[in-house]
Amino acid sequence: MKVCRIAYFNSAHRLYNPEWSDEKNNEVFGKCNNPNYHGHNYKIEVWIEGSVNQETGYLIDLKILKQIIKDEITDAFDHKNLNLDCPEFKNLIPTLENICIVCWNKLSKALDSSLNLSVKIWETENNLAEYSGE
Ligand code: NI
Repeated sequence: MKVCRIAYFNSAHRLYNPEWSDEKNNEVFGKCNNPNYHGHNYKIEVWIEGSVNQETGYLIDLKILKQIIKDEITDAFDHKNLNLDCPEFKNLIPTLENICIVCWNKLSKALDSSLNLSVKIWETENNLAEYSGE
């Protein structure tokens, strides 16, 4: 059985590798390397797999999952500049892939280890990433 909770966060970012020249950053990241940043409306799907508790009928109480997503993801990233405001990306380029891994790691720590977690993040209507811990 799987259940899913969806949330949204709006964040700014810049894709930039400080170890590279400006030319190489422009070549690899193009418009995403804009020094003045740009934003996305991110959608996160948090999928939990496990078995249904016989007493509650729940796999996980979605109210609890909602609160965990708020505490770990929305409060940390919504209306933030990922590069400047969020220590998670101090030394990590905030690509879609890395955002997905960071979100998985934060949620994974907050959830019961008996549950299998998978995180999907949509950066645009057409671009998304999924991470399940490997
Ligand atoms: Ni972008």
